[in-house]
Amino acid sequence: MHWRPLLAALAVSGIPTVYGWGAAGHEIVATIAQIHLHPTVLPKICTILNFTSTNPDEPQCHLAPIATWADRIRFKMRWSAGLHYIGAVGDHPQDTCLYPGERGWAGHPGGNVLGGIRNTTGILRDWVAQGDGAYSDTANEALKFLVHFLGDMHMPLHLTGRDRGGNSVKVTFDGRQTNLHSAWDSLLVAKAVRTVPAEYNHPLPNRQIEYNLRGAIYDSFVRKVMWEGVLGKWHGDVEEWLTCPAPSSLPIKYMLPHWAQVAFGGRAGRVARLVQRVFGHAYFDIGAPEMFDDEVLCPYHWSQPIHALNCRLVWPKEIDEPPYSHAGSAEGELAPRVPLLELDTPKYAGVVEKEWILEELMAQAGVRLAGVLNWLFMDPVEGESGLTVNL
Ligand SMILES: *[C@@H]1O[C@H](CO)[C@@H](O)[C@H](O)[C@H]1NC(C)=O
Ligand SMILES: *[C@@H]1O[C@H](CO)[C@@H](O)[C@H](O)[C@H]1NC(C)=O
Repeated sequence: MHWRPLLAALAVSGIPTVYGWGAAGHEIVATIAQIHLHPTVLPKICTILNFTSTNPDEPQCHLAPIATWADRIRFKMRWSAGLHYIGAVGDHPQDTCLYPGERGWAGHPGGNVLGGIRNTTGILRDWVAQGDGAYSDTANEALKFLVHFLGDMHMPLHLTGRDRGGNSVKVTFDGRQTNLHSAWDSLLVAKAVRTVPAEYNHPLPNRQIEYNLRGAIYDSFVRKVMWEGVLGKWHGDVEEWLTCPAPSSLPIKYMLPHWAQVAFGGRAGRVARLVQRVFGHAYFDIGAPEMFDDEVLCPYHWSQPIHALNCRLVWPKEIDEPPYSHAGSAEGELAPRVPLLELDTPKYAGVVEKEWILEELMAQAGVRLAGVLNWLFMDPVEGESGLTVNL
């Protein structure tokens, strides 16, 4: 087993972090994605990553080692920090769930995780269109960001701005003080990895899965998610995970910014349709929620049910009720002596475990990442215009 320093995060619980899925979460997503790549795609990725192994027993390169690069450079490349998450103005799970509401997104339009996915995909498309297949720093960074942002988008707490995505909400997990964000990022993931049935320590009779594993601590978790999940209970869902709604089914009322909806009142729908006909896609730039989506790549559509998890189970009701309701406040002051809510309970962690919440989020992230990478880099195939995955 290769025990790599990054994975030490798994062993250390209770360290507060502002990062999305801890190292393990992002690497798991990247590994699942790599399993689903079409055969012609990985060589192009390796060119962009400037890494090629000549050992015939292993893949030319791996996506997992670059999956947390974006977290490591976020303080150096400060402009990129806002691209890891998104939050609607007024969103406050679990009493108020907006994605977005009438006041749109916090921050500037496009400067969020959905915009980051669209932007990096565009940069990689440009690299492909340019056609010489040569190494480029721009494509290299875009790819590393894309792998990371698709992971972040599948972490529910990256889709709400409440209490810094849960970073300011103090809780305990197995008796140790931590915060809600870290519990999802690291502690629940670590627990899921730890509790995989021992039979998954052994190789599966599936070369495509085994070939892309690296002897990491989470290999058995990936095997379980693939075997019982992607190839098992979710097998019929994979196509839907990759599908985007036809443009005509986008709710027209969201197509104008709030001020215009107010100005045009009941005629907003007609005006939106007219604007769309005249300006085509240019109107998306004014901040409509679907500015991120088209018929092939639709991060907004994909992320809606993930955001909804915040109100269904991620934010425990109890933290807004006595005696827990003040536990997040008073940073720097004498903290009030209130108990912290314990999350490693049958009612909380147990439900996440029983419903395979983390497993499904990571499977969706991996499959969608593979779909996007295949779409970007696959040699053109007659009649296939949407996202597809191998397996
Ligand atoms: C690519 O990798 C090689 C070998 O590791 C290194 O010498 C070279 O500088 C790298 N090129 C770029 C553009 O990073
Ligand atoms: C990506 O974002 C950068 C910086 O905001 C911008 O200059 C660039 O044009 C965008 N590229 C694409 C392809 O969207």
